Amino acid sequence: MKIIASNFKTNHTRKTTNSFITNLNDFLQSTNINNEVYIFPPATALDSFDTVSNLSIGVQNGYFTKNGSFTGEIGTDQIEEFGIKTILIGHSERRHILGEDQKTIALKYNYYKALGYKIIYCIGEPLEVKQSGLTETLGYIWEQFDGIDLNYENLILAYEPVWAIGTGISATIEDIATIHKKIKKKISKPLLYGGSVKLANIQEILNIPNVDGTLIGTASWQIDDFKEMCKITNNIN
Ligand code: 13P
Repeated sequence: MKIIASNFKTNHTRKTTNSFITNLNDFLQSTNINNEVYIFPPATALDSFDTVSNLSIGVQNGYFTKNGSFTGEIGTDQIEEFGIKTILIGHSERRHILGEDQKTIALKYNYYKALGYKIIYCIGEPLEVKQSGLTETLGYIWEQFDGIDLNYENLILAYEPVWAIGTGISATIEDIATIHKKIKKKISKPLLYGGSVKLANIQEILNIPNVDGTLIGTASWQIDDFKEMCKITNNIN
């Protein structure tokens, strides 16, 4: 059974998130789609959504605290107000745009792990690393596991090559197959692919060996497209 996840990033308001999730929930219920589905709305749109059991709402980020003085951050008091127990950690935009280093990422990981959260942990190399070859790429990816307990039971991995994110150009089938095989050989956890997944390519990506699902940005923000991608995901089972 494949997994499908949508990362809203800095998109959708409280109002549009609410109608997206309500619409999606009705759709999952009426179509009997039973894949694991995850939605990561912006922090301002978090709420206690009443969803079917296979639809989970998660946070895109959280600080490693319950509460305190960390201006601009949210902690578990704010997250759990809505019964949320799912978090994205290590996303490339947090690593490369917001400057989160591996040490901070590992602190977050360990904090949320201790609380039993479902963690979608993202890894992936920038273009210059990819261009220097497979050995360098794998070396870079393994370093992104520093301080990360890979035996954690509630862990899902997401391979998202930085150069394929938001560019409209997904990694090739061969690239995905190669990297996923290498990661799976070391770590037996569900492994999603992310990076320009869309209606036109989701089926072939899901059919690649060792791809257990997708983590989608841009193409998932339109409810009709996302529902269509849920249908395709369901049909792969
Ligand atoms: P895009 O689907 O926009 O490439 O984003 C992928 C991503 O970063 C999901 O977390």
